[in-house]
Amino acid sequence: MKIGIIKEIKPGERRVAATPETVGKLGKLGFAVTVESGAGEGASFRDEDYEKAGAQIEKDTATIWSGSDIILKVQPPDMHPQLGRHEAELLREKATLVSFLWPGKNRELIERLAARKATVLAMDLIPRITRAQKMDALSSMANIAGYRAVIEAASFFGRFFTGQVTAAGKVPPAKVMVIGAGVAGLAAIGAARGLGAIVRAFDTRPVVREQVQSMGAEFLEVELAEDGTGEGGYAREMSPAFIAAEMALFEKQAREVDIIITTALIPGRAAPQLILRSHVEQMRPGSVVVDLAAESGGNCELTRPGEVINHRGVTIIGYVDLPSRLAPTASGLYGNNLVHLLSDMGGAAKWQVNQQDEVVRGALVVAEGEILAPPPKPKAPPPAEAKQPAPVPAKSGKDHKSGHGDAAASGRSQSLALLLMAAVFLVIGLFAPPAFLAHLTVFVLACFVGWQVVWNVTPALHTPLMSVTNAISGIIIVGGMLKVSGPEAAPATILAAVAVLLSTINIAGGFLVTQRMLKMFRK
Ligand code: NAI
Repeated sequence: MKIGIIKEIKPGERRVAATPETVGKLGKLGFAVTVESGAGEGASFRDEDYEKAGAQIEKDTATIWSGSDIILKVQPPDMHPQLGRHEAELLREKATLVSFLWPGKNRELIERLAARKATVLAMDLIPRITRAQKMDALSSMANIAGYRAVIEAASFFGRFFTGQVTAAGKVPPAKVMVIGAGVAGLAAIGAARGLGAIVRAFDTRPVVREQVQSMGAEFLEVELAEDGTGEGGYAREMSPAFIAAEMALFEKQAREVDIIITTALIPGRAAPQLILRSHVEQMRPGSVVVDLAAESGGNCELTRPGEVINHRGVTIIGYVDLPSRLAPTASGLYGNNLVHLLSDMGGAAKWQVNQQDEVVRGALVVAEGEILAPPPKPKAPPPAEAKQPAPVPAKSGKDHKSGHGDAAASGRSQSLALLLMAAVFLVIGLFAPPAFLAHLTVFVLACFVGWQVVWNVTPALHTPLMSVTNAISGIIIVGGMLKVSGPEAAPATILAAVAVLLSTINIAGGFLVTQRMLKMFRK
């Protein structure tokens, strides 16, 4: 089977549907790949690199279109400026086309392709399910867009992202707010944190809170409790009251932050307008807004798609081609998404457009000339269950009040234990020598402090905590060594010896674990 890689014609599009590396992978799947001469130029891939990877280079555009069984492209087919013909007409009859297509807004194009009896797979319709992650081109591109949004913001922002204390003075860190913590938003958080900024993020889906926090950003919240998780785990439209509460939060944040990156999106809807002119006007001059949703209406009232504008000193970036601005990486990831899809469809030897396959069916727009209705949306993941207290097993022979009976019994035994402890302390207080009392006080306080320290530290940090216990053990060992010189069989000497032994084990073990932990961070 022959695959054709087409040079993109959309002005400014620098990506290409295959890199020399993915050409090699397609070759391994049994495909013969032809690349249009100069197709990789925008992404810094030369014709000779493709040739070395096993591709054939073709100068004539029409020849590739007509000679390929499968055409791989980035952008949807369009009118070819040099040939004066629509790319859909250049496609061989009954051939397969795989590219971004946006069928919702390209109905006429889909009909043109159907007229060619083509089979058409839209990369923008790959369902976002676990099995299809490796083919999820929207996520690949959103990830790049989020990263690039931060880089664009940095290039217009006149200050460091990271805070610095230099001999010449102190530079505060930049404050970044990210709206929408989907793929693009999380990538933006990662990039901004990587540059050293203080990052806060907001999303209508509370399930992303942990992801935001795990990336080192603060998760902003509004007072109103409303879950924005909709069908298929995507966002759903929020109530006007929630949007109002959200906008009040952004108004307050606009006065504080230097950079706002907006990525809020509800599939199939115009982007919600969340940053108003009045918000922008409250931002400090020199601040930057990057609106990733520019193409679908914009999250910011002032955004102009594809343009950079300056409103009262605030730069508003509305680029719609962020992945293309990182063309080599974008082409590599998109090319890999395509390789995975073609591999799952059987490769050259077992090629099959299997409509029973959820992923293929999701992306399939036209099957041999028949325009297919959109498939049913994937089911929403089950909502995270609220943690229920473990059920109390009912004891045989007891009625439903037995639970209350158990609770009362355990309460009684707790009070009894407390009373006993109080009595023991009273006896110790009355009869023990003052020196012993002093030691006991230190011991009890140490137990309390240790318990508080360990239980209030997240389990992930327990290993670094080992280093701290090393130091504490260091103190114990000194005390033990001072006491061990007493009479041989005296309890104090024996206890001191035991203390020295246990602290030694703790120090040695602690250092070993700390070493192992540090090794994990060494590159
Ligand atoms: P996604 O669907 O993974 O994430 C969107 C997030 O917005 C979701 O987490 C959702 O819960 C959140 N959201 C929805 N309504 C909200 C609201 N009212 N307030 C706060 N959060 C809200 O989408 P993905 O893949 O991360 O893409 C994000 C945006 O980036 C999209 O608009 C997409 O079209 C755009 N994009 C732009 C590119 C460019 O070059 N400008 C390139 C690639 C993607």
